[in-house]
Amino acid sequence: MALDVEAIREDFPILRRKVNGKRIAYLDNAATSQKPLAVLEAMERYYRTCNANVHRGTHRLSEEATDAYEKARANIAGFINAQPEEIIFTKNATEALNLVASVVCRQAKEGQRILLTQMEHHSNIVPWQIWAAERGLELGYAEIGEGFSLSGQSVLEGLSGSPLIFSFTHISNVLGTINDAAWLCRKARQAGAYSCVDAAQSVPHMQVDVREMGCDFLAFSGHKMLGPMGIGVLYMRRRLQECLPPFLGGGDMISSVGFERSYWNAPPRKYEAGTPNVAGAIGLSAAIDYLRRVGMGKIARHEKELARLCVERLEAIGKARIYGPKKRAGLVSFNIGSVHAHDAAAFADGEGVQIRAGHHCAMPLVRMLGEAATCRASFYLYNTEEEVERLSHAMRKAQRALG
Ligand SMILES: Cc1ncc(COP(=O)(O)O)c(C=O)c1O
Repeated sequence: MALDVEAIREDFPILRRKVNGKRIAYLDNAATSQKPLAVLEAMERYYRTCNANVHRGTHRLSEEATDAYEKARANIAGFINAQPEEIIFTKNATEALNLVASVVCRQAKEGQRILLTQMEHHSNIVPWQIWAAERGLELGYAEIGEGFSLSGQSVLEGLSGSPLIFSFTHISNVLGTINDAAWLCRKARQAGAYSCVDAAQSVPHMQVDVREMGCDFLAFSGHKMLGPMGIGVLYMRRRLQECLPPFLGGGDMISSVGFERSYWNAPPRKYEAGTPNVAGAIGLSAAIDYLRRVGMGKIARHEKELARLCVERLEAIGKARIYGPKKRAGLVSFNIGSVHAHDAAAFADGEGVQIRAGHHCAMPLVRMLGEAATCRASFYLYNTEEEVERLSHAMRKAQRALG
């Protein structure tokens, strides 16, 4: 059964907006998604009825807020088949990846290696660079091979030196490549390395199961999956939570504090210092309920079909350079002839079509493609074929005017 996109769109008030006199076509979902009323209402309800600080009150409101916060954690855990205590709330995927880099590298020995890939977002490169410089560690990058896929050979070579950790993206936010995360985690484990999955572009769009995947860490952001900004998640395998050090210090992450030393709270609170984003966690939980009701399988099929149509229409324009494998996630990166990506995006905006143009926070990869910038259309459950046609129409106009 296909998605009832028209019914879904009714739940997203922002999609009724006009831009430049045209109905908005929001095709920048890899950057952030729009929010359904159910999410906005859940957050408003929390602030209207039981806003209080969590884990520290003995009054009714604090108990209710704590209950709602912990229920959200359990719901999010269930969504990726984790235990509630394995879910650590962060600000976003970036903070989750910084957390992993900090707790893993602080225990590293000089000269140890960190393995990444050539298709990483800056948030899975820069934290490792910072810690590599701090601790005298080496960085390696598994290469992109044929057809915009990771080279298995290069991964195995990178792992052959038993790196400390292999941190890789599940889905590339530029290419739409879907990496075989279970295989990559297995190979990391066999090499004695931790595995860390940047799932910022996968958890919002497909069913992810951390047990099946076998990862040690997995990071994602609430705002890319219908949830609010300011809430992210780090899954950390239970056994590692005990032996790795805390990230930030402060209230809530301790069980006892003295002038000389302190003792940590049980995980996940050991990794959540200070007042958390309670409304954000509740909003993300409501987003997950929404996604579950629609069905992750249906969402993934719908987006892939839109991406397929988009590639077909762009190829028909001629002079289109399209980056990514045939079997891609629901996003398409491209350039049209000599039209600069920013000009193409401005043409699209003129038609009410919102796409991203730039390096997509993956400068090394976009440079490898031989481009300074690309356009990127990225789809979600509320997008339609008609919106893809409108993008294609705008790109034709851009090609005629500037190409
Ligand atoms: C693959 C990937 N990783 C990490 C991030 C960082 O997400 P955030 O900015 O929400 O921390 C993004 C955001 O675009 C992404 O696409």
